[in-house]
Amino acid sequence: MDIIIRDHYEAMSDYATEVIAGYVKSKPDCVLGLATGGTPIGVYQRLIQMHQQGLDFSQVKTFNLDEYYGIGMDLEKPYNLDQSYARFMHEELFKHINIKKENIHIPNGLTKEPESYCQWYEKQIEKVGGIDLQLLGLGRDGHWGFNEPGSSLGSRTRLQALTEQTLDDNYEAFYKKSNIPKDQMPYFAITMGIGTILEARNILMIVNGAKKAEMVAKCLEGPITSQITASAIQLHSGRITVVLDKAAASQLQHSNHYVHVEKLKRDYGL
Ligand code: PGA
Repeated sequence: MDIIIRDHYEAMSDYATEVIAGYVKSKPDCVLGLATGGTPIGVYQRLIQMHQQGLDFSQVKTFNLDEYYGIGMDLEKPYNLDQSYARFMHEELFKHINIKKENIHIPNGLTKEPESYCQWYEKQIEKVGGIDLQLLGLGRDGHWGFNEPGSSLGSRTRLQALTEQTLDDNYEAFYKKSNIPKDQMPYFAITMGIGTILEARNILMIVNGAKKAEMVAKCLEGPITSQITASAIQLHSGRITVVLDKAAASQLQHSNHYVHVEKLKRDYGL
């Protein structure tokens, strides 16, 4: 696991963007797993800038981690788009780059048959040969995607009930400013499972801010547990890059070691 610590959000975003751009350059038809939330916005802004300077997304395929259940990309009903993750991705990234519409995959929160739909979503990932690089944030309750505490570490794409903490955090971040009453937020979401995420060949997790410091330490240095689903990162067999700002890294026991390893690898060109 490469744990990279940077002074602030901007430097964290710079590093993570370089990792993603590196994949796109070395494998122009790569499959990216993407995440929503406040954390990746800086990365998406930088990818847009890189696209303006020539980074080509025309062959890239993407799969998003999750979507609220009950809302989504229904162009017949534009009001449904407001808080959907489909809208978020469109506004924050897709409409600014040359990705093909048919290469974008976001769980459809409007499906009437979530169970068979989720199986279909998994099949689509399989059909393209799996995800090369999965971008992830970290929830304050330790979730990846919407895999709330208690989700099995082998879980697959499915419908999942959201915790009070996730509802509170997402209400503050995304719903409040649109004056949407909290009781109108979706209480369920479709999310890739932890088992699905672990099959991605490479993982890139980004976390910033002191509010997440305790969870970062538990996730990376604590026991693996379904109560902190992102602790499954410790089971991943591919390349793992975790990029933190100093505040998010502040409760790690072994941060000096991580800084030392990063320097060693740089010095030896690894
Ligand atoms: P945030 O969410 O980026 O909005 O903090 C992260 C997550 O819930 O995975």
